[in-house]
Amino acid sequence: MVQQLSDVLVLEEGQTPPTGTITPPRQPKWLDTFNYIANPDQFCRQNLTKYGPIFKTSVFGGTTIFVGSPRAVQMTFNGDLNYTDIALPATTMNMFGEYSLFQRPDLHRQRKSALSPGLTGHALNSYTLHMNQAIARGIQDWIPFNKIALYPAVEKICFNVLTPLLLGIDLNNSEFFNFKGLPVSSSTELKARFNTFSNGFYGLSKWQSRFTTYGRGLKARAELIEFMRAVVQRRRAEGGEINPTADFLSMMLAAAKENPNEVFTDALIENQCLLELWASHFQISGLVSSLLYKLGRYRQVLQQLRQEQTQVRGKQSNTSSIFSAEQLKQMKLLEATIKETLRTLPPSSTAKRQLTKSVVLDGVVYEKGCSLMAEPRIAHIIPENFSAPDVFAPERFLEESSESKKYGFIPFGGGVHACLGAQMAILVTKIFASHVLAQFDWELMGDPKFVQFPIKRIQDNYQINLSKIV
Ligand code: HEM
Repeated sequence: MVQQLSDVLVLEEGQTPPTGTITPPRQPKWLDTFNYIANPDQFCRQNLTKYGPIFKTSVFGGTTIFVGSPRAVQMTFNGDLNYTDIALPATTMNMFGEYSLFQRPDLHRQRKSALSPGLTGHALNSYTLHMNQAIARGIQDWIPFNKIALYPAVEKICFNVLTPLLLGIDLNNSEFFNFKGLPVSSSTELKARFNTFSNGFYGLSKWQSRFTTYGRGLKARAELIEFMRAVVQRRRAEGGEINPTADFLSMMLAAAKENPNEVFTDALIENQCLLELWASHFQISGLVSSLLYKLGRYRQVLQQLRQEQTQVRGKQSNTSSIFSAEQLKQMKLLEATIKETLRTLPPSSTAKRQLTKSVVLDGVVYEKGCSLMAEPRIAHIIPENFSAPDVFAPERFLEESSESKKYGFIPFGGGVHACLGAQMAILVTKIFASHVLAQFDWELMGDPKFVQFPIKRIQDNYQINLSKIV
């Protein structure tokens, strides 16, 4: 599979680094966390200019080494079970629960390959119809308005796209029918609990109480697990053949039925549904809204995409509401534009790891106890990875060589913990953009401000002008 660099020298306890090695430049400064959170793009860019793509900081406490060069990024991504730990706070780990892919490095590979069929390949092809329908339905709600708040409008639709696929619950029929017998009685209630759960990951206080974001998050987590348990029981009670490509839950239920003693315990199934919705919903919503913003800003790219859509659809009417898997594969420029959006506005800021041993790479020693932060904000703007990095140029991802930028283009992380949902994220975004391009024209109302953490996204109050294409 991957990916470890053979020339990473792992130092055993007491072993001194070879002569001539140096530590990364820059001394950690006490205002680093504040400066990074206040303006992460500026923090990364200024330090990159002054110190190069690897430098020490005190971001989030202790010594945190930011890395952006491909080899150092590769070293950071692939140290599991050898020289790194997943350095997440205990509160975040509790929110994950013991069935996440970050919890048990010893079971990681087995769990990841078992989960993969529900989020890739044939499964994605079979999810395409639902994605089309949910998005087409969702954007119908935009028609009466000549302005929409971009991020909230996109986020609402993404929830309706992703929840049926990941939690295996239909949101299309009547609420009474969908939620009958379940401990949550409507999609609004489900969304509210999901939001409380998601906020729990980022609570600052470790106090488990209804007065803290973390405490409320844990409570919502327990309620959502109970909800998933009831969904699973209802599915089993319905009996019959399980179609493993119907949704992510079906894939796991089918695998559990076939091999009852393998990976898929009930607890893992319930937890995984919830975790995948958490891992995907805000990230995809952020990406889709950033893409629509970029297209509003770069009108020429938007025009080129309209041409591509016309070519791909041939004689098919512009208003037909289904884009087939085959047509979507042909939308190369759209895919490149999504990647360029991910390069310039990566939703996910970092992959953070802690060094359990000192390592030496390319003459630099990374000391045990330090954290490593692989930053797309650095990797995506170094000329070694991307020429003219400040130019928005989707065509750079059409070049054949672009595929080789494995550790230079890292919006989805990379290596051992590379995002399991990358293909799904691109697919949803492609379908979303195709429907919006077919139905609407839009204009920006100034430049948006961005929320930077935990996920980079356009602020809620940013609106765009919208007109229906007739
Ligand atoms: C634009 C959308 C997305 C972005 C930007 C994104 C970003 C990332 C990043 C940066 C990582 C690596 C984290 C690390 O190494 O610490 C990651 C891991 C992961 N993502 Fe995504 N993600 C997206 C969508 C999704 C979707 C749609 C799913 C599933 C439905 C998903 C599931 C996962 C999982 C399970 C992992 C952990 C993989 C492992 O530990 O081996 N993500 N994602």
